[in-house]
Amino acid sequence: MEKELSSQSLPALSPATVVVVGLGKIGLPLAVQYARHGWQVIGCDVNAEVVEQINAGRSHIHEEPGLEEAVAKLVREGRLRATSDTSAAVRQARAVVVIVPVLIDEAHRVNFAALDAATCAIGRGLQPNTLVIYETTLPVGTTSRRLALMLERESGLRAGSDFWLAYSPERVSSGTIFRDLRIYPKVVGGINPPSAAEAVAFYRSVLDTSEIIVMPSTDDAEFVKLIETTYRDVNIALANEFARFADARGLDVQAAIAAANSQPYSHIHTPSVGVGGHCIPVYPYFLLAGAEEVRELANGHAPLLQLPRLARTINDSMATYAVQRLEMALGSLREQTILILGIAYRGDVRELAFSSAALLQAALQERGALVLADDPLFSPAEIRAAGYTPFSPSRAAEVKAIILQAAHTAYRSFDFRPFTRCQVVLDGRLALQRSAIEALGMRYLAIGDGCPDEARKASAPCGGEGSLPASHTDNYKPSCR
Ligand SMILES: NC(=O)c1ccc[n+]([C@@H]2O[C@H](COP(=O)([O-])OP(=O)(O)OC[C@H]3O[C@@H](n4cnc5c(N)ncnc54)[C@H](O)[C@@H]3O)[C@@H](O)[C@H]2O)c1
Repeated sequence: MEKELSSQSLPALSPATVVVVGLGKIGLPLAVQYARHGWQVIGCDVNAEVVEQINAGRSHIHEEPGLEEAVAKLVREGRLRATSDTSAAVRQARAVVVIVPVLIDEAHRVNFAALDAATCAIGRGLQPNTLVIYETTLPVGTTSRRLALMLERESGLRAGSDFWLAYSPERVSSGTIFRDLRIYPKVVGGINPPSAAEAVAFYRSVLDTSEIIVMPSTDDAEFVKLIETTYRDVNIALANEFARFADARGLDVQAAIAAANSQPYSHIHTPSVGVGGHCIPVYPYFLLAGAEEVRELANGHAPLLQLPRLARTINDSMATYAVQRLEMALGSLREQTILILGIAYRGDVRELAFSSAALLQAALQERGALVLADDPLFSPAEIRAAGYTPFSPSRAAEVKAIILQAAHTAYRSFDFRPFTRCQVVLDGRLALQRSAIEALGMRYLAIGDGCPDEARKASAPCGGEGSLPASHTDNYKPSCR
């Protein structure tokens, strides 16, 4: 890895026209960032409504602080505009940044449809000397093989000599994008050194203080993002395993993890009812797709990437585990009304992708429970459209238990008082005030709290010492010889 080497010696690319393909939660803030640094920006999106709104000076993304004002100003000043004609926009571009989604289907297969369509459109408009950078998270090898070939085929130009091709993972998070762009190092890899140098020069022109880390290839740069995200999934799975052990042994996992993390090499994340979103539960499958491709390399050795695969299974099983804990506390859930707080995949984000709320609802319904869902970031119609029955205050007295799934700020001051029949609140994100809940006579449960009340019962999922094999517990009995 050549850290900062090529970037120090290169001048920044002179601002001209940059095209941003995909004007979503990430692409639109990037377009704003580039326009603020002097580039003339054309944003491209297949969604005509998005294009129309942006050209009217309105951001369709409302959750990014500062974005709405910036879009209005930059469009008014003629520094940012949008179009659905990607090929025409690319014909005028010095640089093209691509940030359209790559998804997985229900069988966890990678779906490149949107990226392929964008790449074909870019290829049709590509001119000599243009820099193309992909920022979408990708399986290793996608830029250098699939995308390079498509661009060459559509344009008739050679990647790495007629045009420059690079990959740079977008590492920002929705909600803090402008801050993240200032402080996160930018990771860049080119399909050859001139492509990498061009990409570094581009980022030098649009980022203020970020360090630029140059990787040896686009494959290496793609790998970086898959490592970052898979690390978090595996770490959370480990935290969840610790939590289940804590429940079985009557220990408090939160206190134990906090104490363990006081040692500088321990960075255990937080156990929870599951991992959602379009990144952390998805990108391990991008990595696993790569492992399938090189399966023969593992010949005679253990299969590649066993841990990420297992972590996915563990994290996806946490919703069922949470529901089992509820069942232990309440008895049968059949025909009991259970309220899920938060259908978003995480707190304060209006996004449903792979939300653990869906897994919780499925586990509850499997046990015959009636499930209601609340989320202050979605209208009742949107909650219904997402496959849930929206909660209304008139039904509060029916609710027997509540599960916090998304830690929205609004839930910190959630009023539990109208839930007069509610016996249990399961805090799936360790975000509620235990004392306030217990003051209302409700039981507070958390994953890994050691099942304080159930510990005496010797059955799954919590059983205290009683759930361990006798021979095992015997090892811990004091004995005198
Ligand atoms: N959302 C995040 O928090 C996040 C964080 C880091 C990286 N990323 C990366 O950014 C990518 C995009 O994420 P997002 O949250 O902005 O997605 P998004 O769904 O908010 O936006 C994607 C946009 O791309 C447009 N699009 C789809 N196909 C297109 C095409 N062929 N041509 C032009 N536009 C097209 C869509 O209409 C949409 O407006 C992700 O796939 C991921 O790789 C996302």
